[in-house]
Amino acid sequence: MIPKVRKAVFPAAGLGTRFLPATKAMPKEMLPLVDKPLIQYGIEEAIQSGIHNIVIVTGRGKSAIEDHFDVSFELEHLLELRQKTETLQAVRQISDMIDVAYVRQKEALGLGHAILRAKDLVGPEPFAAVLSDDVIDAPVPCLRQLLDVYDFYGCSVLALMEVPREAISAYGVVAAEPVSHGESGTVFRVHDLVEKPKAEDAPSNLAIIGRYILTPEVFDAIETTPPGRGGEIQLTDGLRHLLRSRPIYGVKFEGKRFDAGDKLGFLQATVEFALKRQDLGGAFRDYLRSLGL
Ligand code: G1P
Repeated sequence: MIPKVRKAVFPAAGLGTRFLPATKAMPKEMLPLVDKPLIQYGIEEAIQSGIHNIVIVTGRGKSAIEDHFDVSFELEHLLELRQKTETLQAVRQISDMIDVAYVRQKEALGLGHAILRAKDLVGPEPFAAVLSDDVIDAPVPCLRQLLDVYDFYGCSVLALMEVPREAISAYGVVAAEPVSHGESGTVFRVHDLVEKPKAEDAPSNLAIIGRYILTPEVFDAIETTPPGRGGEIQLTDGLRHLLRSRPIYGVKFEGKRFDAGDKLGFLQATVEFALKRQDLGGAFRDYLRSLGL
């Protein structure tokens, strides 16, 4: 039987240099998209995909993340007194729905290293990994789309997206061929992976986006992976090791992805998420129109 995915790992120890100075004293995962911090979108996606055990890999200066998912007695008491029922519900909902554990990554030594830090908390079972910079608006949560393929093959599954040649060097890139599972042309068998290649060396235009289902052998694979790009231990390189002994699949997911770790991507996500909000969308649309752009 294919073991069930119960846990999701959220690497959150990065320095957020692309968003300085906002991220000097505040974790980038806490930047608010409309009225929720970035990381909460990823956590809600995990919950909607059926995963409630959350492992957050944090670092120095990240205590706001822990506070956010903790119970705030004073705040809840005050909201109760003031009979702000809806706000109280919004504040409580997320911490009620997850079981969260934290582990520290003392030095920012790369994404592979961050995932490895979660090894003891995850144990010998498959798990999801979510990069909260990548915010995905999808009819079916992106993680759920990957889990459906995992449930069929029982192997690691990566989220893939076609990106233009000139942007490819910002991503992990796969060499892959479509398999006949599911809707045609959406599921791929991965043959090779390379982290941030030069455009001319990229094996395809299929980029890895920050959603992964990983089988526990990935930990051993990362452990034997030397530092790669930028002197960091890369998850992509670890997956390349894993590929020697296990098949890896990819899914060209349905949905719109925003790179919210980038200033322009963050603004785009803000506008589109605000427009979709029932309580804000109408007034915000009127405002945008009034700018007469
Ligand atoms: C990370 C991964 C990369 C992947 C990207 C997706 O890079 O290393 O393989 O394509 O996330 O967002 P980062 O953007 O953290 O440098």
